[in-house]
Amino acid sequence: MFRHPVVIRITHWVNAVCLLVLVMSGLQIFNAHPALYWGSVSTFDTPLMAMSSTEADPPKGVTTVFGHGFDTTGWLGSPIPVRKNMTYLRYAPDVEKPDPDEQKTIDGIINGMTQQSQTVEAREHHAVRASHAKSSACVTGELTIAAGLPPELAQGLFATPGTHPVAVRFAQGPGETLGDRVSTHRGMSIKVFDVPGEKLPGHAVDTQDFVLATGTTFPSGTAAGFLRDGTVIGKSTGLPEGVKSAVSSTMRNLNRALHAFGTESALADFFGHPYSHPLADSYFSQAPVRYGDYVAKLGVVPATESQRALSEWRLDPHQDEDGFRHATVAFFRDHEVVFELRAQIWADADSQPIEDASVDWPVSISPYRTVATLRLPRQDAYGADRVRYFDEVMTFRPAHSLAAHRPLGSVMRARLRVYQALSDFRHSKNGVASEDTASIDHVPA
Ligand code: HEM
Repeated sequence: MFRHPVVIRITHWVNAVCLLVLVMSGLQIFNAHPALYWGSVSTFDTPLMAMSSTEADPPKGVTTVFGHGFDTTGWLGSPIPVRKNMTYLRYAPDVEKPDPDEQKTIDGIINGMTQQSQTVEAREHHAVRASHAKSSACVTGELTIAAGLPPELAQGLFATPGTHPVAVRFAQGPGETLGDRVSTHRGMSIKVFDVPGEKLPGHAVDTQDFVLATGTTFPSGTAAGFLRDGTVIGKSTGLPEGVKSAVSSTMRNLNRALHAFGTESALADFFGHPYSHPLADSYFSQAPVRYGDYVAKLGVVPATESQRALSEWRLDPHQDEDGFRHATVAFFRDHEVVFELRAQIWADADSQPIEDASVDWPVSISPYRTVATLRLPRQDAYGADRVRYFDEVMTFRPAHSLAAHRPLGSVMRARLRVYQALSDFRHSKNGVASEDTASIDHVPA
């Protein structure tokens, strides 16, 4: 049989791989900026052909050819088809299906996280949160519930248009105070005040907390998954910071490589989040909550041009190990910060499971839709009294909730017990009484 010489065969495959990479990088560029130009006849403002989406709710896809716009929703510009007469699934207590030995699993999580907190406390000579210990901003502002929401969105807290005071804490993910070289997933905790209505048992004041983090999913999926992964995290708590930084950097590079192939790993992001600006990130509930008559996942998305302009900002942690905090505080000094709060209503039991938070609910089935606006005015985002109160006294918990927004699924049921237990641990170690803050007036100015 005739075979080409070995040099030809090798160069053939080198060419094939190069072409593949070329096509993929071309598609990636087109994905980032979906517009085509022709010589000098078309400019950035007037491309030959472009695909975009409108800000409408839900967004519409528009494809423009020679200046003429066509509605291509569901095909080009916006992957989200406008579903007419969409039916959403209703909440009922039996949407949750707890494992028979779940309480044992939760006890295991509490034991593991308490041991981890003891290790950190011995090292830092102070007990900090077992997760999201290092705050980058402690701020106040307002949440405005939109008027005229459609019936499926006007539920629970969002049933009544109006404005509520809020307290918001931004923090880095680890349950210890690390340098910013270790950039993991990060969190945003929101406490909404003046919220009347029936609360979950044990929550006696008129507030609603939303405890959110970067990424649309929780990689461990379930309480049992978290116990498994948490054991690994717990064992690594005693390791030197350099090792944690190396793991974080490997995970970040892995995701960068995966990104080039059009995908990403939520787990890699959890341990190796980009050195992005905390005010340019979006934050999600990752697991579902009851949404009045329905069920939803929630998210907040940056909403001002100046926040969007931060999307390419990256920290050089070698210059500043507290750089996320410094960048966030500097931004708050000069700018108002605004996030849109959005709800993704449960519409399909198969592709949108309640019990497994590692599954990303497809936005093609139900998109995130805006229900409220969070406005955080210019302010000193790291005043000493305020930070002491947020970090040492105040508690943000999924259990601080209206009955109408009961957290749902395995991960959420674990959080209902674990936050209380670990907060009790750190407060008693530090000899500080915790407070389920009842009013914005309790938050230092
Ligand atoms: C089984 C799953 C989880 C467990 C066991 C867990 C456990 C904890 C614990 C013990 C704390 C410290 C509480 C305190 O000392 O007051 C905490 C804080 C936090 N967690 Fe989780 N967590 C879980 C899942 C999640 C998820 C899914 C998110 C977000 C989508 C999240 C976001 C946060 C944030 C933002 C904080 C800081 C709260 C604050 O500012 O006080 N966690 N977590």
